[in-house]
Amino acid sequence: MSKILITGGAGFVGYHLAKRLADQEHEIVLVDNFSRNGRDADLLTLLQRPNTKLIEGDLTDPASYEKFGTGYDYVYHLAGINGFRQFMDMPHEVLRVGAATALNILDWFRTKNNPPAGGQGAKILFTSSNEVFTGAHEAFGALPVPTPENVPLVIADPYNPRWSYAGSKIISELLFIHYAKVYNLRMVIVRLHNLYGPGAGYDAMIPKFIGRTHNRLDPFPMFGPDDLRASCYIADAVEAMQTAIESSATDGQTYHIGDSREATIKTILETMFEIMQWHPKEFDIKPSPNGPPTGGSTRDILDVSKIKTDIGWEAKTSLEQGLRKTIEWYLAHPAQS
Ligand SMILES: NC(=O)c1ccc[n+]([C@@H]2O[C@H](COP(=O)([O-])OP(=O)(O)OC[C@H]3O[C@@H](n4cnc5c(N)ncnc54)[C@H](O)[C@@H]3O)[C@@H](O)[C@H]2O)c1
Repeated sequence: MSKILITGGAGFVGYHLAKRLADQEHEIVLVDNFSRNGRDADLLTLLQRPNTKLIEGDLTDPASYEKFGTGYDYVYHLAGINGFRQFMDMPHEVLRVGAATALNILDWFRTKNNPPAGGQGAKILFTSSNEVFTGAHEAFGALPVPTPENVPLVIADPYNPRWSYAGSKIISELLFIHYAKVYNLRMVIVRLHNLYGPGAGYDAMIPKFIGRTHNRLDPFPMFGPDDLRASCYIADAVEAMQTAIESSATDGQTYHIGDSREATIKTILETMFEIMQWHPKEFDIKPSPNGPPTGGSTRDILDVSKIKTDIGWEAKTSLEQGLRKTIEWYLAHPAQS
């Protein structure tokens, strides 16, 4: 049994990760300042378990780390400001929170969570994003798709707030890499891509599609029906994160986590209509909005072969299985208007 700290534990990924690890009887401490989400029913149920605990704290404040105690085997650093609207509305906060929490958690980890004597040492995981190289697509339009880990990380335009999130992830990746080297820390960076599942907010593509289907929108708007999307079900992603932190083969490395199986927008919608047992009579077909910024390409997909080769992980949940579970959750938790 391991002692595990999850920052941003009240968020979408943090909750699913915590639930998976709590189900395995590990001792889980979640830290969050509830700047994004409240204490929803799922989280409150999880926190009733004797092996889970919540610490409320702002991780940009070094004093908040005094509440953590020590002796953690694994630390997952997920806290950050996420979401396109936030990047545009408060880029300064996206950068401040990203950079300050990365620095603080690394300083706490190296000074206060020293490796247990004789053991392999504690390990820390950082959740980065494919956004770190999206700017290279935009600036040069020449990255390979599917995109592997070892491409240049690029800010296409520092004056455009859209890149604040990429900037916060790039500085954090650099901090994790160089702290780990200089202080001999065990760490792994994972770049998550296009996750979906229960509790992923209401702004992303799949929750919006579910809402429109539930509301029987007819004609049904369909943007870029032939555009390809590779979406990764949350249970697969948290399995990958756990596998990555627990394997010593990943020490000091960066991995892409996503699903390499692509589906067109039309296929995603048709699968959803079938599950929800309704079909619009007509579609209002529109061109691709802007598409992902991949140099004009509507394909936005990670090369996930490194994680498969090194530790044998690949996404397993089918689109139909993942959508079924996601739809069930969203129908039980409709957006508050
Ligand atoms: N969801 C995805 O598809 C995706 C894709 C790529 C990368 N990521 C990264 O994975 C991580 C988790 O993503 P998520 O979707 O769960 O995001 P989320 O916004 O749901 O969760 C982040 C959590 O961090 C907390 N937080 C923010 N600032 C904090 C602070 N100063 N102190 C303490 N807690 C703070 C928020 O309250 C929130 O609960 C993030 O770092 C995100 O950038 C997610």
